[in-house]
Amino acid sequence: MKKLRVMSVFGTRPEAIKMCPLALELASRPELESLVCLTGQHREMLDSVMDTFGLRPDYDLDLMEAGQTPSSVTRRVLEKLGETLEQVRPDLVLVHGDTTTTFAGALAAFYAKIPVGHVEAGLRTWDRWSPYPEEMNRCLVGRLAEYHFAPTRRNRENLLREAVEGKIFVTGNTVIDAMRYTVGDGSRPFACDTLNSVDFFGRRVIAMTCHRRENYGQPMENIFSAVAELARSYPDALVIYPVHLSPTVQAAARRHLASIPNVLLTAPLDAGDMHRLMARSYLVMTDSGGLQEEAPALGKPVLVLRRETERPEAVEAGTVALAGTEKAQILRMAAELLDDADKYAAMAHAANPYGDGHACRRIADAILWGFGLRSQPPEEF
Ligand code: UD1
Ligand code: UDP
Repeated sequence: MKKLRVMSVFGTRPEAIKMCPLALELASRPELESLVCLTGQHREMLDSVMDTFGLRPDYDLDLMEAGQTPSSVTRRVLEKLGETLEQVRPDLVLVHGDTTTTFAGALAAFYAKIPVGHVEAGLRTWDRWSPYPEEMNRCLVGRLAEYHFAPTRRNRENLLREAVEGKIFVTGNTVIDAMRYTVGDGSRPFACDTLNSVDFFGRRVIAMTCHRRENYGQPMENIFSAVAELARSYPDALVIYPVHLSPTVQAAARRHLASIPNVLLTAPLDAGDMHRLMARSYLVMTDSGGLQEEAPALGKPVLVLRRETERPEAVEAGTVALAGTEKAQILRMAAELLDDADKYAAMAHAANPYGDGHACRRIADAILWGFGLRSQPPEEF
């Protein structure tokens, strides 16, 4: 029997963390041929994830350029992926989330008349400018895709509100599946040696990340200035910030934070280290999407360094709070969690609104059902 060819296309760190476990699941199904095509929108940060999951790409478009923009990445993905799709002619192309790779990957598949499956579909802020350009990328992929793998019921409702075409499945988020590979029992030493010398028992560690394009400029200045003041006010705390490789972020982070003794700036961590760092931290401060899903599963409170979130489920579960991008408010909310044990305890409980670790199985089953190779659709998350 001819196998169904499913090509997973991804290119940045978060897509890779959430697509690698799915690629492994697809490869384990006898009815499927699983192909991985990297756009290479990211390089070091992407290769590190592939190593973590022990995956090798079937195709690598190797597109990253210094100073790239969403337009330049879109153009190159359309050209190069278009050629690859014409050669390979998969039966289905899977894209993930909301990056330039996601949008351009889906559009290239549409132009090649190949059906598109969108993993992590239906997240919305309903503000086209924030996150920028991700909110628009998600909406456009919602129009292009024929299979929508929505992590939560709310995500499905968002898609229904937009009357997208095709089939919607509520699967949970594959990031929770990924954490089964990365966290383990939490006792493994860090690959980054600096982290092995941190006294996680004697100090309250704040794990932080910040990289989003809509925070470039004044919001990022405010955030870093707040973190600098927080560190100075709480010398017993230690902020650990693996800095994204974007030159804009690197420059701003070093200017504000490099000289503060209880702020530790590191290179980007591999996914296992990042997850284990959060597991051993007191608090997480971040503008990342993925961390908002991971930290609640680890029982860690999260202050989101943004004005809105497309992930309200954890806010409702009480483990995530929006701290915005104004210095005074970030400082006030962080200080509250450091000073007020009751407030801290109220947020520090494990919640899993984003998944149960079986999203990849559901997505693989949904694909088989969609192509007539299985009699029942998967149960909902
Ligand atoms: C992209 C995504 C964003 C996602 C983020 C995850 C878009 C529009 N944005 O933003 O949604 O949250 O990835 O991290 O797709 N760089 C390196 N090495 C790397 C990775 C990046 O040097 O391994 C540098 C490059 O100089 C690049 C810059 O970082 O030009 C920015 O990367 P880019 O993919 O354009 O945007 P991100 O801000 O990473
Ligand atoms: N991450 C990582 N190393 C780091 C910082 C983050 O592995 O140094 C992981 C993090 O655990 C999450 C993902 O990268 O799984 C989030 O990626 P990012 O913050 O770059 O993008 P976003 O989720 O905001 O799109």
